[in-house]
Amino acid sequence: MDLFEKLKQRRGPLGQISGITYGYFQFPKLEGDIANKMVFRDQEMLVWSINNYLGLANHPEIRKVDGESATAHGFSNPMGARMMSGNSVTHERLEEELSAFVMKEDTMLVNYGYMGMASTVDALVDRNDVIVYDSECHACIIDGVRMHQGKRFVYAHNNIEKLEVQLKRAEKLVETTGGAVLVITEGVFGMAGDQGKLVEIVELKKKYDFRLFVDDAHGIGTLGATGAGTGEEQGVQDQIDIYFGTFAKAFASVGGFISSTEDVVDYLKHNTRSQIFAKSMPMPLVEGNLKRLELLRDQPEHKANLWKIANALQSGLKANGFNLGETNSCVTPVFLEGGLMEATNLIFDLRENHQIFTSLVVYPVVPKNVILLRLIPTAAHTLEDVDYTIKTFEIISNKLKNNEYSKDEFTWIKEAPKWITKKSGYVNT
Ligand SMILES: Cc1ncc(COP(=O)(O)O)c(C=O)c1O
Repeated sequence: MDLFEKLKQRRGPLGQISGITYGYFQFPKLEGDIANKMVFRDQEMLVWSINNYLGLANHPEIRKVDGESATAHGFSNPMGARMMSGNSVTHERLEEELSAFVMKEDTMLVNYGYMGMASTVDALVDRNDVIVYDSECHACIIDGVRMHQGKRFVYAHNNIEKLEVQLKRAEKLVETTGGAVLVITEGVFGMAGDQGKLVEIVELKKKYDFRLFVDDAHGIGTLGATGAGTGEEQGVQDQIDIYFGTFAKAFASVGGFISSTEDVVDYLKHNTRSQIFAKSMPMPLVEGNLKRLELLRDQPEHKANLWKIANALQSGLKANGFNLGETNSCVTPVFLEGGLMEATNLIFDLRENHQIFTSLVVYPVVPKNVILLRLIPTAAHTLEDVDYTIKTFEIISNKLKNNEYSKDEFTWIKEAPKWITKKSGYVNT
């Protein structure tokens, strides 16, 4: 069979309905400055779906440095991979400052968080080692685990008893292979907002021999007294052996970093394939990330503002009977009941009639008949935004309970042709 023909038929779970969802439910275009309000299909929307936690995306000092650095260096500089020709004093300065910020000996920048994370997992272990990881780990960890040629044992999400069972199995196995054990979890699980149980995991180090790798994409800048993340928040930062942070959320930028001991970072710099064989981070991103780090460190008001909004949103929603699951971070999931029809009709109503833009998560990411509306509060939101959202959520949840979103078919279908802007939009019949 011709490969292209096969792909056309297969489409994949997200591609199958692109003909009626492209530009609205998938690949929507939010326009204007990144802020609490942005424009979507010519309407101003209150946006709760951007990880600009600290509101830095549009901070004047950040915009100034980004612009000046782009003018001074362009995006080409430096050319080549770090190891060959793409290193600079500024890259190394950012690494030093990040190490100090997250309280680790050394740091390696990675160009994209996702690639860096997957590739670091790959670099850390060989076929004799065993990876033990949380079942709800982000796709970048799963991809890293997929590259691993040895055994991997998954444990039920945040279930410490199940983790211990897998650690026992891993321990037994490495006795025969002579390998080591790596446990991987997240600081904050980005969908439901619950923190990884780092204190309990670290406690298991007393009984089992393993190293802990934490992906703290959502924790860095948002949790901990100084913003150093979930480890600092839970008082176990020194027990995290390898720490990952992204620049794509609280930093409102691109790229990420891995911090650990000097020896481990030295090893990673010489063995992480996605960094050795790829161009180094462009200078405007490095200088921009240095500036962002400075604001994270020196202007705690951004984190305070974020939490003012997050606390108001979460307590207001809870007071009105909404189920926010187990969140203990800024990520604010609202769990409702309903299928795909109710979910998409509800989002359509929220956007078109109430001018609120949130992310929608449905089966298979969450169980059948669960609608997850994931709200990301930021320092750029206001308490009026919070009040308006809570009032609107009461309206839409009442409509959901009264079956108003399931009376007729997909109400938005007749509008769909207006938002499909892509020729290849596809409906798999
Ligand atoms: C938990 C987690 N890890 C890693 C990543 C990837 O980071 P980046 O966007 O920097 O590639 C994300 C981003 O969505 C994430 O949520």
